[in-house]
Amino acid sequence: MKAGIIGIGSYLPDKVISNYDLEKKVDTSNEWIIERTGISYRRKANDNICSSDLGAEAAKLSIKDANLEPEDIDLIISASSSPDRIFPATACIIQNKIRAKNAAAFDIQAACTGFIYALTTAAQFIVGGQYKNILVVGSEVLSKVTDWEDRNTCVLFGDGAGAVVLSKVKWGGVINSILGADGNGSELLELPAGGTKEPADFDTVKKRRHYIKMSGNEVFKFAVKVFEDCTRKVIKEADLSLNDIDLIIPHQANIRIIDAAIKRLKFPRDRVVVNLSNYGNMSSASIPVALDEAFRMGRIKKGHKIILIGFGAGLTWGANLIDWNL
Ligand code: COA
Repeated sequence: MKAGIIGIGSYLPDKVISNYDLEKKVDTSNEWIIERTGISYRRKANDNICSSDLGAEAAKLSIKDANLEPEDIDLIISASSSPDRIFPATACIIQNKIRAKNAAAFDIQAACTGFIYALTTAAQFIVGGQYKNILVVGSEVLSKVTDWEDRNTCVLFGDGAGAVVLSKVKWGGVINSILGADGNGSELLELPAGGTKEPADFDTVKKRRHYIKMSGNEVFKFAVKVFEDCTRKVIKEADLSLNDIDLIIPHQANIRIIDAAIKRLKFPRDRVVVNLSNYGNMSSASIPVALDEAFRMGRIKKGHKIILIGFGAGLTWGANLIDWNL
C-alpha cells in the first residue's frame, strides 16, 4: 500500500512584477536578470495578504480536485519560508480558513525543500495508517521578507502557493523519498533576525536583518551538486535508472542551476519542468505550483514516473519519486 496524490491546486496573486519594474528600484537590468537567473516576472501579494491566505486558496482547490470536503482532511502539513508568524503554525491558520475542523495541523521548516519534507512526512503517516487524507501546502509571501534595496536577492523571489492532497492509493504513488541536511551551511541563506538569536529591536531593523541574506555563489554550487546527487540516489534506491524517468520537476531557483545539473545527469531538457521565468523562486511553493501546471498542461500522465527535487536553506535537500496514479 502506497500514498499517492489525489488532488492538486495552486494559487498565485494577480500582481506581476517585471524585471523592468526592478530596474526602477535597484541597479540592475532586464538582460542581467534573464542571463544570470532566467527570471522575467514574479508575482507579488497585496499588502494585506499573508502566506496562509495564499495557502488556503491553493488548499481549497486541491481538496476540490480530490473530490473531498475540508472536513475529510485528517492532517494539514504546511511548509513556508515566510510563515504568518513564528507561532502559531501557519497550518493551524489555514485549517481555520478552510474550515477543516477534523484536521490536526503543524508546520515543517525546511525552506525551499519544505514541500518535499512535508510530502515525505505525509506519505509516512498514510503508509503507517494513522491518517487517511492529508493536505500538504507550500505557501509564500516572500515579497515581505525580501530586501527591495538588495539587488543580489530582490530579483530572485516571488509569491505563490501550491497544495496537494495525499491518500492511500491502490496503484502507483510515492515509490521512494530521500531527505538530507547540512547545518554547517546554515548561514549561507538565512533570515537572521526576529527569532531568539537576534530578537527584533531598533538595531536589527536599522541593519535590515529582517530580510533574506544569501551567499549566492556558495548556494549555487551546493544546489547543482545536490540536484544531481539527489536524483541519482532516489532512482538508485528504487532500482530504476534515469531512462525510466518521464519528468523531473525541480525547485525553481535559477535556470543555470537546473541546466548545469541536467547536463551533469545527461537527462533530456524537454523532460524537465521549468516555469521560473514567470514566477521566480517561490521557495516551498515552487514545486507544487510547477507540478500543478505540468499536470494541467497534460505533461504528466498516469503511469509516468516523476521526480520532485528540492534544495535550499538549512542547508536542506530532498526528492520524491512518484509513480503517477491520477
Ligand atoms: N543586477 C546586476 N548585477 C548584479 C545583480 C543584479 N540583480 N546581482 C548581483 N550583481 C552583480 C554582483 O554585485 C557582482 O558584481 P561585482 O562583480 O561588481 O561584485 C556581479 O553581478 C556578479 O555577481 P555574482 O554573485 O558572481 O553573480 P552570479 O552569476 O553568481 O549570480 C545569483 C548571482 C544570486 C543569481 C546566483 O549566485 C544564484 O542564483 N545563486 C543561487 C541563488 C539561489 O538560487 N538561492 C536559493 C536557493 S533555494
